[in-house]
Amino acid sequence: MKIAVYGANGYQGRLVLAELARRGIDMRLVGRNATRLREAATTVGTAAGTGDADQRIADTDDHDALVAAFRGCDAVINCAGPFTRSGPAVVRAAIAAECHYVDTAGEQLYTKTVFDTFAGDAERAGVTVVPATNDGCVPGDLIAHLLAERVHPIEEIAVSHFITGAGGFSRGSLRSMVETIDAVKAGGLSYDDGDWRAGTPARHTAVTLPDAPQPTDVVKCPLSEVVTIPRHIEVRHVESHVDAAVAAQLNTPLTPEIIDSLPEGPTEEDRRTHRFTYLIDAFSRDGQLVRGVVRGHDTYGSTAVIAVEAARRLAAEGAKPGVLAPAQAYDATSFLTFLALHGISWTITVSDTRATS
Ligand SMILES: NC(=O)c1ccc[n+]([C@@H]2O[C@H](COP(=O)([O-])OP(=O)(O)OC[C@H]3O[C@@H](n4cnc5c(N)ncnc54)[C@H](OP(=O)(O)O)[C@@H]3O)[C@@H](O)[C@H]2O)c1
Repeated sequence: MKIAVYGANGYQGRLVLAELARRGIDMRLVGRNATRLREAATTVGTAAGTGDADQRIADTDDHDALVAAFRGCDAVINCAGPFTRSGPAVVRAAIAAECHYVDTAGEQLYTKTVFDTFAGDAERAGVTVVPATNDGCVPGDLIAHLLAERVHPIEEIAVSHFITGAGGFSRGSLRSMVETIDAVKAGGLSYDDGDWRAGTPARHTAVTLPDAPQPTDVVKCPLSEVVTIPRHIEVRHVESHVDAAVAAQLNTPLTPEIIDSLPEGPTEEDRRTHRFTYLIDAFSRDGQLVRGVVRGHDTYGSTAVIAVEAARRLAAEGAKPGVLAPAQAYDATSFLTFLALHGISWTITVSDTRATS
């Protein structure tokens, strides 16, 4: 098995390379800048004890070069954000090269674009495309699938993300936020009665975390789970939130110059302080709440573990061709059990009263 990593020299890309090396999976490094790619290749080659790594140069505006760079690999992991700008070209090339495709995108509209644009092409090529294989969307989407086995019919699913710790976001994450800032500020898409809509007011403004004495304020935020969950669950309404205190930080204007002056991303020590709690609340039509809770540390390290396992499973076990949500591509219990072995724990609880307001 050989997996190509596009954007291999970026912050997230290098964590993915390290995870591939740790798992002993053969890799090809692909990117647009020879010098930066060579540096990443040297680092990973040395770490893996394999000497020089396989590397190819291809820009996103050169379709033929991208296809040639991916050809012969079983899957592509795309880490080159902002995806809104460059992602579609990489998906198109992966499909043309007959490679399965996953990416680390957190950009909600881009995730929807991948479903809307590439489903037919992927089916015809016999490959599987799973966008947003990151620390939030994969466990959240898989848990939602398990919740739907416990409660039905479901009126609503609300996904809420809480992250604490030092070091903040990587420069690449900030660039993705700036690229999609209008959607971020407006709260992004909700799913309502069979379609995705912008501008729907949030149903929830506060959420009570497990064991917390009182609710925490949240604001609507464009997470990819809103795009993936309704593809495998019959539900009337899906919306997503983040901690209002974290969202408030985005009110500070960010220019490309400010982002360039920041550290590339959290240090290894900072990453050890990261804690995330993702809540997936499913409300039945008769008011029952089933809550999935995902907890872990180190969002970027977790994304590397998840993206590599997501690509590895497509390459080793296959899935239905097309563009799929995580729960359509992977067995939910099996993937979540794998994640539990890697420090990402999950629980499901059923209660009669609503824990959110
Ligand atoms: N939960 C989540 O939502 C989540 C979690 C983790 C990561 N992510 C996403 O993962 C992405 C990567 O983050 P990062 O911190 O690794 O960013 P980064 O350090 O800036 O790396 C970005 C990589 O993409 C490449 N790239 C960017 N634009 C490109 C283009 N137009 N054509 C070709 N290559 C391009 C860069 O190449 P050069 O070096 O040549 O510029 C670099 O290799 C971000 O979008 C981030 O939001 C999301």
